[in-house]
Amino acid sequence: MILPPGLSVHGGHLFIGSHDTVSLAARFGTPLYVTDEDRIRSRYREVHAALSSRYDRVRVLYAAKANGNPAVLRALAEEGSGADVFSAGELVLALRAGMDPDRLLFNGSSKSASDLALAVEKGVRVSVDSLDELSSLDRIAGEAGETAEIAFRVNPALEVPTHPKIATGLRTSKFGIPAGDILAAYRAALGCEHVVPVGIHCHIGSQILEVEPFVRAAGVMTDLAAGLTDLGVRLRFIDLGGGLGVPYRHGADPVPSFTDYASAVVPVFAGRMKKAGFSPELWVEPGRYLVADSTVLLAGVNSVKEAHRRFVNADAGFNLLIRPVMYGAYHGVVVANKADRPPAHRYTIAGPICETGDLLAEDRDLPAIERGDLIAVLDAGAYGFAMSSQYNGRPRCAEVLVKGASAALMRRGETMEDLTAAVERPPWQPPADPGDRG
Ligand code: LLP
Repeated sequence: MILPPGLSVHGGHLFIGSHDTVSLAARFGTPLYVTDEDRIRSRYREVHAALSSRYDRVRVLYAAKANGNPAVLRALAEEGSGADVFSAGELVLALRAGMDPDRLLFNGSSKSASDLALAVEKGVRVSVDSLDELSSLDRIAGEAGETAEIAFRVNPALEVPTHPKIATGLRTSKFGIPAGDILAAYRAALGCEHVVPVGIHCHIGSQILEVEPFVRAAGVMTDLAAGLTDLGVRLRFIDLGGGLGVPYRHGADPVPSFTDYASAVVPVFAGRMKKAGFSPELWVEPGRYLVADSTVLLAGVNSVKEAHRRFVNADAGFNLLIRPVMYGAYHGVVVANKADRPPAHRYTIAGPICETGDLLAEDRDLPAIERGDLIAVLDAGAYGFAMSSQYNGRPRCAEVLVKGASAALMRRGETMEDLTAAVERPPWQPPADPGDRG
């Protein structure tokens, strides 16, 4: 089996960086997310270098939704990253992690008045999704005595090769303003007293394993930006969003690198802007590319059962990693304590959730598995913990960060107390036992 970079096998055990996953599981318990900070930093450097070696005005905004743990945000902030934030919560997390408000973009198709007020208060630029939102923001900025800098989110109406649930720039998508209406939107923004349009933004989708759709997007966006000069608008930045995918099926999926992305996209971008006579900054918003392969999800084996299929009943399911269920996504699986043994049987790894669909991996040829073994689910760093839940009354698991020879919690595992931390007992219901809050 081909492993993602950063993982290796020594003495039959799977290692992440210099850490034995079997020892980490023994020390911190399972289920457990383990993330390698060095890997995230090196991916960031790769992305930044690929772009900045080809164009000198570049910003990388990490899509915080992929993994919003403050330790991840802090590491990326230290590298100089900004962030695409999609909620007030992500905005607050990014600022607390030390990110510069000037390097954030507040995205989102449904922002509340208080979301917009927070952006204005913190001086964070907003990607405006509709004319209705534009007028709210104009009013809110005016009330605060401020001027809000904005981009518009464009719907470029581009078909992209990915799962339909994560294609975001289709004609039918809920995001953004149709490209044909963009000129009118900027005209409306110019008519606002408390809003200044400084950028333009799109995001065409996620887990895209070809660079060609991004080249098309760059063409659409640069044409729109050039067209805006007719209104006297010279944008300071064009944000092409995120979306470059990663090879979850190592050895089978294409492996487009950010260098491939940059060498295809930058010439189109720079060439067209040169023609238009100005050179805006090029912004990108990678999420998955930066963090997916930094992380494994470790799950203990509670039992093995031969039924319709050979089921391995693991202690992690779609409560902790929903991608296989939600998108039919593939994640590689390794028996972490038997990583050098040949396959013995075909197994289906099932989670502990009370739903038939709770399968992390189906029909995988793996070494003989017994109760007590350790399963590692690979490439779990993007949209893994971030999409976890307490469904079925399961506290979320801990997250460990490793860096060089160090390993430490970046989130403790939740306890039974955490299940009731936010609940209230309506006053007409008597407490059932001393653990019942109220
Ligand atoms: N920018 C915007 C505005 C976005 O909506 C997204 C992702 C990104 C950037 C980052 O995209 P990335 O580089 O990570 O592909 N939960 C799904 C993915 C949803 C992506 C949503 N938007 C999954 O697990 O595949």
